[in-house]
Amino acid sequence: MNKLKITGGRRLDGEVLISGAKNAALPILAGCLLAETPVLLRNIPHLRDVTTTIELLSRMGVEVTVHDQMGIEVDASGVDKLEAPYELVKTMRASILVLGPLLARYGRADVSLPGGCAIGARPVDLHVAGLREMGAEIQIDNGYIRARARRLRGARLVLDTVTVTGTENLLMAATLADGQTTIENAAREPEVVDLANFLIAMGAQISGAGTDTIVVEGVDKLEGAEYTVLPDRIEAGTYLLAAAITGGRVKVRKVRPEHLDAILAKLRMAGATVTVDGDTVEVDMRGRRPDSVDLRTAPYPGFPTDMQAQFTALNAVANGVGAITETVFENRFMHAQELQRMGADIRIEGNTAIVTGVPRLTGAPVMATDLRASASLVLAGLVAEGDTIVDRIYHIDRGYERIEEKLSALGATIQRISD
Ligand code: UD1
Repeated sequence: MNKLKITGGRRLDGEVLISGAKNAALPILAGCLLAETPVLLRNIPHLRDVTTTIELLSRMGVEVTVHDQMGIEVDASGVDKLEAPYELVKTMRASILVLGPLLARYGRADVSLPGGCAIGARPVDLHVAGLREMGAEIQIDNGYIRARARRLRGARLVLDTVTVTGTENLLMAATLADGQTTIENAAREPEVVDLANFLIAMGAQISGAGTDTIVVEGVDKLEGAEYTVLPDRIEAGTYLLAAAITGGRVKVRKVRPEHLDAILAKLRMAGATVTVDGDTVEVDMRGRRPDSVDLRTAPYPGFPTDMQAQFTALNAVANGVGAITETVFENRFMHAQELQRMGADIRIEGNTAIVTGVPRLTGAPVMATDLRASASLVLAGLVAEGDTIVDRIYHIDRGYERIEEKLSALGATIQRISD
């Protein structure tokens, strides 16, 4: 199995090009199921979750052709199998995103339930309840969501909790429903807006994406379109944090700085000089040790839960004590134990991690438990004394494109090894 070996102590310096956003690419790929003619997608990142989604679509009869420069053509005109099997869904929860499009376009879908997940229960009850309100008949049977509908009808949906993929599933379903759908308490994440823009490019009638009320007028059909996926704000944030944690200077290129506001505010509090210029952001720590920050995760535009683990690593080596409160997911502090094995001083109290910065961490063999936890271990490895070996890096390959190449180009000593 592949591992990452990191020798800590190098101050990062340089520029890095940010890839397309995983969390926009996945719903957009699922959204291609709605189109009657081929779609051309650009800036799709080369990630394991993207490969899994493409395999899922291919098994349904979708033709996916990868062109030069990462353009991907997706032709859903030959779909003949309306199922997302357990073996794929269990490796990637986001497979649930095919439920809304399949049901809206083909009137049926059999999608395996994702089941438990390392970062909390993560149910999909709101996806199912919303589709039922749109007239779908849904049974849970042998671990599968079996959904049927002649044609979905528009409805007023009020989500109990802000859910990103839930909003996306219902948004996609509503595009082909009969009449108007209103999604209240909708997620406002930039990736939801990117999906909405993609659907609009295909002919959908959507207003309000990016606010907490999205209104969709159903149309009879959607046609293929060309679309470029937005840059990954979490990847960008992770490289900026790599600068801060090593006392270095990193410029991320091809980003949307306005999507990074919450992250940049915390980096400034940590003592970094942050410079925004067009589609680039630079973080310069000028050789200083960062100061601890307090933060609380929340749905967008709040502080993203997908950056929580990385900031835990930053606090682990910072001056002072920082409190990190996780409000989006339960049980999302698995990285704390591994960071402790590297010498971090972290105390968990309920959904808060109290992190007392130590002058130095020491390298150790550590285990990645989920995508963002693995990023925090890599960051810690960059500043730890000696070698850190991060095991189970398939987690990191789900969401970070060529991380060892990008970090090496910034001056890190990091390599992929296999046993
Ligand atoms: C998405 C992101 C993930 C990010 C998360 C929160 C993708 C592919 N993944 O995950 O990277 O960490 O948003 O920003 O975009 N909930 C329910 N019932 C539901 C659905 C959700 O109770 O039917 C709860 C969840 O348990 C969780 C909260 O809502 O506590 C938010 O989860 P949600 O926004 O749905 O996360 P995902 O869409 O799975």
